[in-house]
Amino acid sequence: MCGIVGILGGKSVATDLVDALRRLEYRGYDSAGIATVENGHLDRRRAEGKLRNLETRLIAEPLSGRTGIGHTRWATHGRPIERNAHPHMSAKVSVVHNGIIENFRELKERLTAKGHVFETDTDTEAVVHLITDGMQNGLDSISAVREALDQLRGAFALGIIFAGEDDLMIAARQGSPLAIGHGRGEMYLGSDAIALAPFTDAITYLEEGDWAVMRRAGAEVFDRDGAPVTRPLVKSVASSLLVDKGNHRHFMAKEIHEQPEVISHTLSNYLDMANGRVSIPDLGIDLATVPRVTISACGTAYYAGLVGKYWIERYARVPVEIDIASELRYREAPLPEGGLALFVSQSGETADTLATLRYARANGQRIASIVNVRTSTIARESDAVLPTLAGPEIGVASTKAFTCQLSALACLAIALGRARGAISEEQEQELVSALIEVPRLISTMLVDETPYVELAHLLSKARDVLYLGRGLSYPLALEGALKLKEISYIHAEGYAAGELKHGPIALIDEAVPVIVVAPEDDLLEKTISNVQEVAARGGQIVLISNADPEKIGCELAAHIKIPDAHPLTYPLISAVPVQLLAYHTAVLMGTDVDQPRNLAKSVTVE
Ligand code: AGP
Repeated sequence: MCGIVGILGGKSVATDLVDALRRLEYRGYDSAGIATVENGHLDRRRAEGKLRNLETRLIAEPLSGRTGIGHTRWATHGRPIERNAHPHMSAKVSVVHNGIIENFRELKERLTAKGHVFETDTDTEAVVHLITDGMQNGLDSISAVREALDQLRGAFALGIIFAGEDDLMIAARQGSPLAIGHGRGEMYLGSDAIALAPFTDAITYLEEGDWAVMRRAGAEVFDRDGAPVTRPLVKSVASSLLVDKGNHRHFMAKEIHEQPEVISHTLSNYLDMANGRVSIPDLGIDLATVPRVTISACGTAYYAGLVGKYWIERYARVPVEIDIASELRYREAPLPEGGLALFVSQSGETADTLATLRYARANGQRIASIVNVRTSTIARESDAVLPTLAGPEIGVASTKAFTCQLSALACLAIALGRARGAISEEQEQELVSALIEVPRLISTMLVDETPYVELAHLLSKARDVLYLGRGLSYPLALEGALKLKEISYIHAEGYAAGELKHGPIALIDEAVPVIVVAPEDDLLEKTISNVQEVAARGGQIVLISNADPEKIGCELAAHIKIPDAHPLTYPLISAVPVQLLAYHTAVLMGTDVDQPRNLAKSVTVE
């Protein structure tokens, strides 16, 4: 997905636009650009690659004007080169866009036949020419946009400015988030409140189908039928969440180290520590009789959900169906009457997850979500929200959000178990005590990272890396593989340890490091058998365990010791080694740890 910003300013806006784009770079960073209105004319500067390239361009070729829009891109249509970078423009109008215009080819054909000349491979350019066409047919700016919006299909958040209109910006939202900031004699537009935080904390979030006419004096908001609507003005907390790396080299490192603190914050939101009880928000459904929980998410959030499945089935004895969001919705999974559908998402804006939430709602499910952004679309479309209190997660590779998602899921599982009598009061107190220990245990694992720096040399030479785990450690094997591949670009796969002998063991030789997540739980013995199968074929084994390595009975390339803990909490504990392994390998390889190639922090396109 992409980041959008717009400013109707009291002075030249180019510098502020770029500063705002820097706070949106986590949303995409293939290319960036800004456009302004100066002396009635539109002008723009764009650059391929990171935002610093645009800054260099602007130093060489400054852009003035106090009305402007900006964009940082994660390419959906058209290679990430300057020609395809936003803003796109004609002599009359300039547009920045986040989303996908699904009918852009049809529009492009029709507009080309009318003489419009397309210069890019993007879907967004169709919006430029559609609005221009309307204006060429005599419509004023607002009417031309209104007519264009009626012809667009797909997902879009748009920021639009016009030649000769110094005090006009139009915004439109369908499927991708958009916020309007209210200043003193200035107005702002952004993909999220963090982008606008230095300018204002007075925010209006546009709803689905809304479009807004913005002038320095304020904004008029209309619904998709053109009827004026009032959206609440809320005070954003984003300004207090403006983040920097502190004394860490990368946001990812900082966020790994924040885990003890943010897990504590999240747990304290759901635990009555004094009495050893769990207390979650009312989900509006009878936990004692809910027939099934359906969990859906993407990427790391999905792996958190998979741990949640194991916990809910084991401790609450409730059947759980889980699937990645992009599959569940399209296979039209039948959902039980009166079921609970649970969506896990750090950003709360992931298009696949949101689409599946809407599918579940259309199929009569009670909707709950575990999100890190309380004002996100997924949160706002849920019946109940279990927030993670991880704070802004800037590193594209999710770390602290993952362990906070696990914290919330563990509390949900215990609450379900208590409601159904599957967990006694004593068991609840035992499990709560175990959770309370987690921040301290994780702190002990963050003291010395040298084993990971050394192991990075082993992994960095590998072409393929396997991660193995059983039971609650299987999702951690999947997550460890994802962390490694998404920031170091080394191919890695996570497998259920018991599955190795059914084919993947053919991959094993001296060149393939095998990371085994195997805490001393009731499955350790089984996993040891799998480790020995790997050792017998020369695989290099890295064991992540609190067990005595002597128990493994074979040579290990390395043993990462984790602290003894309650079986419930090993997924939280084991997350740290797999995060640090990936981090230090990526650092050694010199990849862009916080903004890995081809990725974006939240994927708001399907
Ligand atoms: C995690 O490291 C990845 N960046 C990615 O898989 C992410 O978890 C996924 O896109 C889901 O994002 P969400 O949690 O914001 O919905």
